[in-house]
Amino acid sequence: MDLPVAEPVLRAIQSHLESGGDLGYAFSYTVDAPVHKAFAAWAAEEFDWKVRSEQVLLFPDVMRVIETAVEQFTAPGDAVVVDIPAYPPFLEAVPAAGRTLVRNPMVLRGGLWEIDFDGLERQFRAGAAAYILCNPHNPTGRVMTADELRRLLRLADAYRVAILSDEVHAPLVYAGHRHLPVAALPEAERVPLITATSASKGWNTAGLKCAFAVPGSDADAERLVSMRPRERDGVGILGVSASIAAFTSGKKWLQKAVSYLDGNRRYLLTKLPELLGGDIVCAVPEGTYLAWIDCRRLADRIGTADMAGFFLERGGVAVSDGEEYGLPGFMRLNFATSRHLLETIVTNLALAVHSAYDR
Ligand SMILES: Cc1ncc(COP(=O)(O)O)c(C=O)c1O
Repeated sequence: MDLPVAEPVLRAIQSHLESGGDLGYAFSYTVDAPVHKAFAAWAAEEFDWKVRSEQVLLFPDVMRVIETAVEQFTAPGDAVVVDIPAYPPFLEAVPAAGRTLVRNPMVLRGGLWEIDFDGLERQFRAGAAAYILCNPHNPTGRVMTADELRRLLRLADAYRVAILSDEVHAPLVYAGHRHLPVAALPEAERVPLITATSASKGWNTAGLKCAFAVPGSDADAERLVSMRPRERDGVGILGVSASIAAFTSGKKWLQKAVSYLDGNRRYLLTKLPELLGGDIVCAVPEGTYLAWIDCRRLADRIGTADMAGFFLERGGVAVSDGEEYGLPGFMRLNFATSRHLLETIVTNLALAVHSAYDR
């Protein structure tokens, strides 16, 4: 995010430094400390998710949780299912662990990207060992409904598939939608489950390295922590202070940030069709600050699916190319920036397209 740092986070870091300034290791392996309690209290208040703080585990980042869970909940060669489009590190993590990546393309229904549950069931029946859920979803911005999560849990229970749920974007959800942690549903008790999250997206603290793993049960906790030694090393001591501040005093700042991002989101959803008609179609993000944009018609007209290359070269705008997410002809635009810069971005996208059409 290109927004100023949240004041409570900044103050916590300043006071950490001023009150002795311990810059040594964070105690990654401590349990039930203030940071775990702050996380559990936030989860209860925001999502009605009753997390036992003594079961929360610190990790340096969310991807380390997912990577570790893939190793602990599956065996070499096992199939791990990922929805497509996907956050690119998922597509790398599965084969890097020696597991088989199974891509389950999402379906676009009435402008909304949905999990293909029929495809998921086929993969689960064929013997998949785990499924990586990303909710809110990067890159489509979908926030899964209770019905969708229940359907997922029913399938996971029926076929004994572990759910590894990345919920790092949970704080960033727009009015009319509500983040529901899959682990908060009663049906989740029957399914092997790890939730990975952190303050890093909501409060923009990713560089401070502090994330949380929440096992669904004691058995899941045991399984996750029987990992390689030192797997959880690398939690940042300032990240611990920042996370406590975000979860305990960061609500007002977050509400303001989400409302600003919502303004950006609305601007994008109005301006893009106004300037570019139907040649690029932006899905409505229900959460996250990411816009997933269908450029397939544009790609046909200009004769290239390399959207990132095209917009960088012709418009000076850096977008992420759909191909990295498993879907060429699309692009992901991060709109967590100032309105002024977003206006320039949109103008430049339009100029790039029109200059290509004029040729
Ligand atoms: C879905 C998702 N998971 C994980 C991450 C990375 O989080 P971390 O830096 O904590 O690994 C991101 C960052 O953009 C993300 O969008």
